Amino acid sequence: MARAKRKAKATKAPSKKRAKTVRAKSARRARAPSRASSKPHRSQRFTVSHHRDEDFDQGLRPYSAYRDLGIASATEGMVQAHVIRMTKPFNADEVAIPHFHDVDFQMVYVLKGWFKTEFEGEGVHTFTEGSAWIQPPGIKHTVLGYSDDCELLEIVLPADFDTVTLGE
Ligand SMILES: [Fe+2]
Repeated sequence: MARAKRKAKATKAPSKKRAKTVRAKSARRARAPSRASSKPHRSQRFTVSHHRDEDFDQGLRPYSAYRDLGIASATEGMVQAHVIRMTKPFNADEVAIPHFHDVDFQMVYVLKGWFKTEFEGEGVHTFTEGSAWIQPPGIKHTVLGYSDDCELLEIVLPADFDTVTLGE
């Protein structure tokens, strides 16, 4: 009887351990698909863009040039990323026009110089080299100035978006 008990204990203990291990693994496996399925799933391919002055071309505005970083095509239109270089001195009549962008996400990082913008509800901000900000979807804003050497990195989702100009 005692022997049988010991035997039973001896065989029970390892099986409990195995059961615990299996439960832990299956719990990890069960979580993985739910995390993956909550992310947008579009194919992305590896892409590289090196600086070349000749890649700056006319973009959205007549006072700036855009260098496309190839992210839009590499992400099937999920993300747009470009370097914006100011090409004309700031002229309020041309530049200081209230507008907003119909986007899901937009962030800007100052690579060179400075850039000044007024945001509805957030006031006037002057950004310098190394500054970064997010423009929440649809926030109305007006550019109030920039340095002649200003360069910005802008990342936007989706790659194609509309800009709505407000008033005159
Ligand atoms: Fe804007």
